[in-house]
Amino acid sequence: MSDHLRLNLFTMNAAEHVSPGSWTYPGDRSADYTDREYWTEVARTAERGGFDAVFFADVRGIYDVYGGDRDVAIEKAVQTPANDPQLVVPAMAEVTDDLGFAVTRSTTYTHPYQLAREFSTLDHLTDGRIALNVVTSYLESAAANLGLDERMDKGTRYDRADEFLDVCYALWEESWADDAVVRDRETGRYTDPSKVHAIDHEGEHFSVPGPHGCEPSPQRTPVLYQAGSSDRGREFAAANAEAVFASQPTEAGVREYMADVRSRAADHGRDPESLRFFIGVVPVVGETEAIAEAKHESYKDHVDVEATLALLSGFLDMDLSALDPDRKVEHIETEAIQGTMNAFTRSQPDREWTVREVAEFCGLGTTSPTLVGTPEQVADEIQYWHEEVGVHGFNVKEVVRPDSLSDFVDLVVPELRERGLVRAADADPRGDTLRERLLGEGQRRLRDDHPGKGKRTD
Ligand SMILES: Cc1cc2nc3c(=O)[nH]c(=O)nc-3n(C[C@H](O)[C@H](O)[C@H](O)COP(=O)(O)O)c2cc1C
Repeated sequence: MSDHLRLNLFTMNAAEHVSPGSWTYPGDRSADYTDREYWTEVARTAERGGFDAVFFADVRGIYDVYGGDRDVAIEKAVQTPANDPQLVVPAMAEVTDDLGFAVTRSTTYTHPYQLAREFSTLDHLTDGRIALNVVTSYLESAAANLGLDERMDKGTRYDRADEFLDVCYALWEESWADDAVVRDRETGRYTDPSKVHAIDHEGEHFSVPGPHGCEPSPQRTPVLYQAGSSDRGREFAAANAEAVFASQPTEAGVREYMADVRSRAADHGRDPESLRFFIGVVPVVGETEAIAEAKHESYKDHVDVEATLALLSGFLDMDLSALDPDRKVEHIETEAIQGTMNAFTRSQPDREWTVREVAEFCGLGTTSPTLVGTPEQVADEIQYWHEEVGVHGFNVKEVVRPDSLSDFVDLVVPELRERGLVRAADADPRGDTLRERLLGEGQRRLRDDHPGKGKRTD
């Protein structure tokens, strides 16, 4: 594969994301997440490093599975406190030209009419640099705060997500014709009403007559990300996602995941080669091997194992405080994140993990591989995943903020540029929109074989 690779920064508008305890590292600036300047600086650095997007994770609810209460999660900042991610996007867009923004939203706890409006607005404001990471949410504690007696079961969550996207597709793709807005000062006619259509959606979960309240934005539908790993989650990804997060720590697991989702995408009438697969990586880089290894050791010293267990208990919907740390992890089908479970069972059938080993491994970036070494060594591994395994892009996970990002940009990106894997700082960004950067110049809108693509021509 000679194609360039795609880079996202994987972060969260929170004091801690996926490296519990690392906010205690000397000089770490995670606590500045509440400041606009923190995020504008992140945006500038990511753009300088040729990143395609900043990818914001987001959760609803508190991690209160561990020990049956929320004390550890609150005390140790396990993805709480966290601010809303999409509200920082306009500030970041203001200081950048090409950088995209992928924002996680839950189909379980919002309404499609509302979400469609918010993303049309963001797509307008960023000139087509927006992606939506579609999740169904997994924490029981979210439900009660958002008007439900209990968390919906996973099947119902995905049913709702299917219908949710159908409503959004109709609003984004079908409701307003491209030439609906005429802005004729002479006649005082802003919009041609015959080109604005109701969507008349009546379903099990939603009733939305439409029309959409926003005029078409540069991409219409935002770029769609998804990270489902259960059977139903893979099906949902295959039907809808343009970019898929393959969250497996091993090559075999990633290969199996990509092949499976591609074959399901073909069953949905899509070109399987049009899907873009991303893996997470946790780079720990130093000018020499010794510096990188010393950094890795000191990062590990700052991992908070109890906080990691609290995070994983939420991911798995299983109270890990109740298990003997030396007990072997056994596979279960979970109502929460199946991929986290599979990472330590299905994707590594030859290896047995204890609870303690899982917690230690996950302390730096959860289930993604940690790449420790010189810029050349880290670039070698990335190049291998890209060229040999066929992964299109990488979600760079942070340990220390902002050092994880700035080390990558200052040390690894020059090496990747040297190898022609990341575009040069002064090179053409391959189109104006995020979708073009992902799929190719000219592809501003959904591909014709995407199920959400509007068929209306008037
Ligand atoms: C790498 C990765 C990142 C995820 N990020 C989020 C997130 O930010 N917010 C969230 O609510 N769910 C997140 N999820 C959860 C999933 O998108 C999905 O809703 C969940 O995994 C349950 O479905 P599944 O068992 O089919 O994977 C993530 C999952 C993975 C594997």
